[in-house]
Amino acid sequence: MCLALWGGPAAAPASPRLAGGETTVSRARADDFLEPLANLGLLRQERHLIGRSLFRNPWVIPPSSTDARDGLGPVFNARSCLACHRGGGRGHPPQGDEPLQSLVVHVGVPDGATSRPEPTYGRQIQTYGVSRGPAQGLAAANAALDGRTATGEARVSVSYRTVEGHYDDGTPYRLREPRFNIEELAYGPLSERARLSGRVAQPLLGVGLLEAIPEARLAALADPDDRDGDGISGRLARLGNGRVGRFGHKASQPDVLAQTAAAFRDDLGITSALFREQPCTAAQTACRAQPNGDGPQQAGVEIADDLLAATAFYVRTLAVTARGPVEGTARRGEALFERIGCAACHVPAHRTEQLAGFPELSGQRIYPYTDLLLHDMGSGLDDGLATAEARSAEWRTPPLWGIGLTGRVTDGQSYLHDGRARTLAEAVLWHGGEAAAARARFAALARDERAALISFLEAL
Ligand code: HEC
Ligand code: HEC
Repeated sequence: MCLALWGGPAAAPASPRLAGGETTVSRARADDFLEPLANLGLLRQERHLIGRSLFRNPWVIPPSSTDARDGLGPVFNARSCLACHRGGGRGHPPQGDEPLQSLVVHVGVPDGATSRPEPTYGRQIQTYGVSRGPAQGLAAANAALDGRTATGEARVSVSYRTVEGHYDDGTPYRLREPRFNIEELAYGPLSERARLSGRVAQPLLGVGLLEAIPEARLAALADPDDRDGDGISGRLARLGNGRVGRFGHKASQPDVLAQTAAAFRDDLGITSALFREQPCTAAQTACRAQPNGDGPQQAGVEIADDLLAATAFYVRTLAVTARGPVEGTARRGEALFERIGCAACHVPAHRTEQLAGFPELSGQRIYPYTDLLLHDMGSGLDDGLATAEARSAEWRTPPLWGIGLTGRVTDGQSYLHDGRARTLAEAVLWHGGEAAAARARFAALARDERAALISFLEAL
């Protein structure tokens, strides 16, 4: 199959420039990551547009006259997917007094190697709510919500500690380490041992292609006992149901459909056949007593299966942007990326397999720069909160495709799971654990070599 690309070269033999294979869209017009796959046929584009409206339009608080679009809350973080995934790009931590927007705060109580949900607040702090009770101090932050009296779970802010260091050549740098502060707790005190961790919204480009990387390929890249002795292990995130997790900062969801359903429930308060329970714990009686947005055709859930599937279809059919020219300095940077060991986890290339129902995504040579495995990233990135699959210092290698467009797609740069890194170099300097040797080799580079490495990342 050979398909013409939007404004790009005709699909020729696989080339890293076509980072998403035949799905790749032109870089020239890339102001967001919300273009449909370049090889999506006309009928399929219609379906994509249906999903697009579900992704963009705000959901409303039940009960309402629009059964199909109500169900928001009782507690939630945003009213639409787009509110956090602006332009399909990454989120950022709040600045100054701004309420949390495209970053969510996870909460839990460490328990041996794993952690339990916080008994009252669960696993995520939802900062908005639809309570008809007396307005708590959160009213100001909630005023944007149709002027309704609303009670979220709490207000969270972030403050930073500066961490100073220097490259091996003596050049100083300053990093910032976040601390999440919680106030105005609407359902009583938080467990004393609770830990908070920030999670920025992740960029959505090419997630359908990531879903189509064969599981056997990921298993072959994993080396949990570090048999090859390179200091890098990498584990598959084996979920309770036996499937392999790929999505989320801790690879806790197996596919885009499950991730979408989890987002509907945890971020918007919208239940589905996959996640039937509202995000209220047993202790949150006021939360549990709120009206539900289910309709007669929806079998007790707030979003019907076909609409959930349409939303996931939209997200799966978001294209990858072509990579920029890798010449001169950037080409030197690409060689350094390989030489100092970045590619051991940020694995450049994969070939996708058949993904049922998605011929466009199948059989593509792609260049995402990830192994989708969990890696121990050391104490600097350890947030003290484990999940069933991932220890507290373990994170999934994020894909790097499109990372050079961050400043163009979102108004600002914030990298790593909690958005603490303000530049690509800061992101690398936080690497530790299995990536400690690669980080040390980066810090030992000469100034022009560091610049070359960064200019390669900027071309992605
Ligand atoms: C309140 C902010 C917020 C909203 C609203 C939101 N997301 Fe997200 N999204 C996030 C965060 C944070 C993550 C990382 C989650 C994690 O690590 O568990 C994420 C991750 C994802 C991912 C995984 C990307 C990857 O590379 O692993 C997908 C896909 C996704 N969201 C889709 C959606 C869809 C579809 C919706 C609407 C139904 C949505 N999101 C609504 C914040 C949000
Ligand atoms: C042991 C595996 C491993 C190695 C080696 C490694 N990384 Fe990473 N990288 C990760 C993981 C895991 C994260 C996410 C950490 C987090 O979110 O806290 C990450 C995050 C990043 C990010 C931020 C991405 C984003 O979306 O926020 C950049 C940029 C990056 N790495 C570049 C590099 C470069 C350059 C090198 C070589 C010097 C390198 N990495 C080596 C595993 C690795």
